[in-house]
Formats: sequence, structure tokens, C-alpha cells
Amino acid sequence: MALKITVIGTGYLGATHAAAMAELGFEVIGLDVVPEKVAMLTRGEVPMYEPGLEELLRRHVAGLDGSSDRLRFTQDWAEAADFGDIHFICVNTPQKQGEYGCDMTYVDSAVESLAKHLHRPALVVGKSTVPVGSAARLAARISELAPAGDEVELAWNPEFLREGFAVKDTLHPDRIVIGVHSERAERLLREVYATPIAEGSPFVVTDFPTAELVKTSANSFLATKISFINAMAEVCEAADGDVVKLAEAIGHDERIGSKFLRAGIGFGGGCLPKDIRAFMARAGELGADQALTFLREIDSINMRRRGQMVDMTREAVGGSFLGCRVAVLGATFKPDSDDVRDSPALNVAGQIHLQGGQVTVYDPKGMDNARRLFPTLGYAPTALDAVRGADVVLHLTEWREFRELDPAALAEVATHRLLLDGRNALDPEVWRAAGWTFRAMGRPTA
Ligand code: UDX
Repeated sequence: MALKITVIGTGYLGATHAAAMAELGFEVIGLDVVPEKVAMLTRGEVPMYEPGLEELLRRHVAGLDGSSDRLRFTQDWAEAADFGDIHFICVNTPQKQGEYGCDMTYVDSAVESLAKHLHRPALVVGKSTVPVGSAARLAARISELAPAGDEVELAWNPEFLREGFAVKDTLHPDRIVIGVHSERAERLLREVYATPIAEGSPFVVTDFPTAELVKTSANSFLATKISFINAMAEVCEAADGDVVKLAEAIGHDERIGSKFLRAGIGFGGGCLPKDIRAFMARAGELGADQALTFLREIDSINMRRRGQMVDMTREAVGGSFLGCRVAVLGATFKPDSDDVRDSPALNVAGQIHLQGGQVTVYDPKGMDNARRLFPTLGYAPTALDAVRGADVVLHLTEWREFRELDPAALAEVATHRLLLDGRNALDPEVWRAAGWTFRAMGRPTA
């Protein structure tokens, strides 16, 4: 009989994982404590923008026309516990208010709510990003609480999906990592991931702490790569170099590689910033803080970029934002997402607004979320409307739509043809040919 799977938490990670598990042929229940989310998902609607996810969901949600009926959603812990052979914990682990550490409230409460109802054999699988040591603690908690006792086991299976590519990353992962305590747990997870394993996804089996650390160290490495190239951008600014050429040149070295070397206003989002901070905090608790002090520097390089973008803009408009109209293209932390959590673009827009600039933001998908977070900024329905009357245009999230804008059409509506690229994604030649003064971060003379 095919395994029955539940997915606890239906955010970016959980909603995608639930739909992907149904796509792989399993019967799935998704559980969330927020009734509105359960209602939306049950109608086949996704509460956020993620390319391909709604289509995938609609293919499987029970009761929808032509669906496989393999996927449904509930708020009922007992129902989920009775149903599942395997329970994936996919709730979020935000940064604690006012501290670097990771807030485990949602994970703890999900595990406790579920465990109390586990009367049958089951494997609970953590996917959330957690401080190392959490899995061991949660395993102990489960054996205390679960009525089925030893027949309930825990495994850790970190998730590496990127927003904007969540469906692809979940169905065709570049690796599957599991931390397990038994052969049974490994066997069950091999069964869950049989399709991607058969396609060639590497399957790495390890212990709990290593599995937890794989995730935080992978994110730390990625953050380091971005801050490295942004540090080089700072040096290029000082030495009249060109960071884009520099990245291209060092990227040809296979040991370095060209990915994640795009200099600009830096990384944001719900993962990288909080994950490196939580990692530092946890290392401190373990007495290994020295090993990760470099992450403090990675964080400061990254946060500095936002201020540098503001400074570069202020200088370009003559030293003050008072009375200056600023068009901001991009609000989300990256393209192909509607996520504005810790978005460098919105941070820059907000700083300029606070310094007296009249900011108008346009983003292809992030408008509602941006408005909710920064209601005092101006918003325009199109890029052209945002640019109308602007003294300066800032390109802050590298959406394809912005690369496809017609610089000549924008030139006609802008007050001043001044464009600053905070993402190094636009072609300076094309913009200059249409009469724009073009300046990008880390390329003072390019
Ligand atoms: C990240 C990890 O990539 C993923 O493996 C993990 O599971 C969750 O965290 P995500 O938050 O979706 O994924 O974003 P990612 O694509 O990593 O980008 C993070 C930020 O870095 C974005 O703000 C992006 O604009 C920025 N970035 C990325 C750069 O500034 N330069 C680059 O070269 C690459």
C-alpha cells in the first residue's frame, strides 16, 4: 500500500511539499492552524505567488475538476495523526524578536500537538530549518508524548528549496539529505523519494546534528559568496574597478564558479539573513562562537549595501532627497516571488522616504505585501507610472519585466533620465543609447 503522508504547515515550504508529494503519487493531508489558509488551499488557491504551484495543487486537491483527489487540507490534529504513516513538519522558524536566535515556538507546538495524537506507528520528519540539537530534543519529546511510544520515530530532512523555483526544487532536488536513527526510517524516506532518487538525486544519509548543520552551513556558504562579491564591489568602487567583469573572470575558475556572484544591494528574504544569525547564536550556546564570527562580517557587509545604495542615490541627485521624486522598480527580495520579508529593495525605498524623498514603488507581484509592510510609500500600477515625473529611477529587484522595459518610453515620462542599477542586471549600453545616465553598484566607470 502506498504511504500516506501529512504535511504540517502550509507556507512556501509546506504547500509546495504537500502538492509535490501528491504529484509523486502519495495520498496527502496538509494541516495548518490558520483556517483561512486551509480554506484557500481547499479551493485550490495558493496564499502566495510561486510559479507553477497553483497548477500543481489544482491537479491534486480533492473535489476539484479533473484532480487526482490525492490531496486535502485540515486543521484537525487527530485526523492527521490517524491518517499519516509519515508526517513532515514544515512550519517556519523566524528570528526571535530582538535576538539573533531562532524562534522554535511553531516547531515545538506542531510536534507536541501531533505527538499527543499518535496512536499508531509513524515517522515524524522535520524539514524546518532549526538550530543544531533540536532534532534530538524533539525526538525525546515525541517519545514522552506519543501514545504509540517506540513505534513513533523522528528523522530530519532539511529542505533546500529556493523561492521562485520551489516546485522544481521539490520535485527534482539537487540532493536529499536525511538524518536518521534507524534503518526503518531510512527505508521509509527512500520510499518517499524513490522517484527523484531514480532520476539521480544524490541521497545522503547521516545523523541528526549533521543533517541539521547541512542546511545552516549551506545557507551560510551562499550568504558568504554574495557578501564576498559585494565586498569586492566596495573595493571596485574605491579603485575604479568593475565588479561585474571581476565576477565573470573569477567565475571561470571551476573551483569558484559563477553562480551567486551577482553584486548589488545584497541578500534578504525569510531565510539567509535569519539563518546565519540563528547559526551564530547557536554556535555561541555550544561554545563554538569563534568558528562563526566571520558570519557577523558577512551580515554587516550585506546590511551595509542597503545604506550604500541610498548614499549613491543621494549623491546622484545632488546631495539631498528633499523634493526629489524617486521611482523604485522592485519591492520583493528576489524576482519570481511576492515575498517582501527583509527585502533589500523595500529597505532602500523606506530609508529614502524617511530622508524626505517622494518614493513611488512598482513591483510585478509584491505590491500587496509591500503596501501592508510600508503603507506610507507611494505605489504605482505599472513601471511606466512609477517612472512618470521621477528625478531618479532605482532598479532594486531583478525581475525579467524590468530587463524588457523600453528605455526610450521611460525616458519620455521621466523628469530626469537618471537610472541606478542596484542589481547589476540591466544593460548599461541599452539605457545610455536611450539618453539615460546609468550607474551601477560596484562599477563606477563601467
Ligand atoms: C535560500 C537558499 O538559496 C535556499 O537553498 C534555502 O532553502 C532558502 O534560502 P531563497 O531565500 O529563496 O533561498 O533565495 P536565494 O535565491 O538564495 O536568494 C537570496 C537573496 O540573495 C536574494 O535577495 C537575492 O536577490 C540575493 N542574491 C542572490 C544576490 O544578491 N546575489 C546573488 O548572486 C544571488
